[in-house]
Amino acid sequence: MKLLVIGGGGREHALAWRLAQSPRVQTVYVAPGNGGTALADNMQNLEISATDELIAFARQEKIAFTVVGPEAPLAAGVVDAFRNAGLKIFGPTRAAAQLESSKDYAKAFMVRHQIPTAAYQTFTDPALAKAYITGQGAPIVVKADGLAAGKGVVVAMDLAQAHEAIDMMLGDGSFGEAGARVVVEEFLSGEEASFIVMCDGQHVLTLATSQDHKRLQDNDQGPNTGGMGAYSPAPVITPALHNRIMREVINPTLAGMAKDGNPYTGFLYAGLMIGDGPDATRSLKVLEFNCRMGDPETQPIMMRIKNDLTEVFELALNGNLDQANIDWDRRTALGVVIAAHNYPGTPRTGDVIHGLPDDTPDCVIFHAGTRLDGDELKTSGGRVLCVTALGDSVKRAQATAYAAVAQTRFDGRQYRSDIGWRALPGGSA
Ligand code: AMP
Ligand code: GLY
Repeated sequence: MKLLVIGGGGREHALAWRLAQSPRVQTVYVAPGNGGTALADNMQNLEISATDELIAFARQEKIAFTVVGPEAPLAAGVVDAFRNAGLKIFGPTRAAAQLESSKDYAKAFMVRHQIPTAAYQTFTDPALAKAYITGQGAPIVVKADGLAAGKGVVVAMDLAQAHEAIDMMLGDGSFGEAGARVVVEEFLSGEEASFIVMCDGQHVLTLATSQDHKRLQDNDQGPNTGGMGAYSPAPVITPALHNRIMREVINPTLAGMAKDGNPYTGFLYAGLMIGDGPDATRSLKVLEFNCRMGDPETQPIMMRIKNDLTEVFELALNGNLDQANIDWDRRTALGVVIAAHNYPGTPRTGDVIHGLPDDTPDCVIFHAGTRLDGDELKTSGGRVLCVTALGDSVKRAQATAYAAVAQTRFDGRQYRSDIGWRALPGGSA
């Protein structure tokens, strides 16, 4: 079979890599892909992004099914368009993707269906927003309503910072439509975890737990990024918490979407804040929903899947996810992101990448911001690579990943040296 993966980051490389290992797969097309998918034996990059061209390609090549990586095409309705064309595609409809594409929609949805989340109010008027912020006090969180490529959240430690965020988002229009409304939200403290499931509109299949590292520098210092590394499993999610998350968050979310007339299909990612205390009573709140898998969480998660992923997608696409089962590698998978100079600001591109080690069964290098220029591999984006390793312990996975990181060189590279610290004994906040 031939498959299509939409997207070009590390998440899409990891999805394509796992799918391409199925003996049933001839070629995984990746649109647009990156340097890593260009180099892989049974993958092929496609220089197209317009939905109608993707549909024409899928028809012509008899693509068995399409998997969508990023949120933007989902929010733009790529799933609706493929389905209308009679093509199989895994992801939420445009209406269901509002769980990510509108923070206001997601918050109102959670309140309506009693899903635990931070208290909030939505504003379009800057003066009213600021008055509310002053009344609430800091710390407080300001979020642009729409998709803002990871730049739409300000965790303000004082009132001045919060007011400034209001001016930035509601004020000068630099956020465009995404900033036409803001959500002002109660600050939550605790430990964050990513809980990702697959849904077919009726049934749910939970994926392995994971955690990422959002800050640029060691010890969770520096600016927020898309994620500088991730690992799976996340020890903070004990079996007791797992059950609570299903009961208190995932099941009511899927039931609520169905009840609202938007049955959810696709990956659903709940970003959770878990407070301190015993598992039965510690606070558990949804920070955000994403209508896709996480990046870089996908990279370690894909490393741990042992069975044929094409079969899991087929069950999902046929509404039979209750029959699906994933055979998880019991080891820890840990991915270290190597980012370009100046990331998370505008990254420098065009740096030549040297010394990239070959993949081994225990260590795979997923590409994101890379491209092939002749036979040179060059940086082409902020997050460049995610070196992902399996190990019998977090420490062993770290050792394998960092040995490969050390060999990979390009000018201005940045990476954290402490990915996984929370999962080490005594590491948890
Ligand atoms: P989001 O895009 O909503 O996940 O926000 C990005 C990041 O901002 C999260 O991963 C958290 O680190 C932080 N954040 C978001 N909402 C809150 C909140 N209510 N309290 C504290 N931190 C938050
Ligand atoms: N790593 C966070 C995200 O994918 O949203």
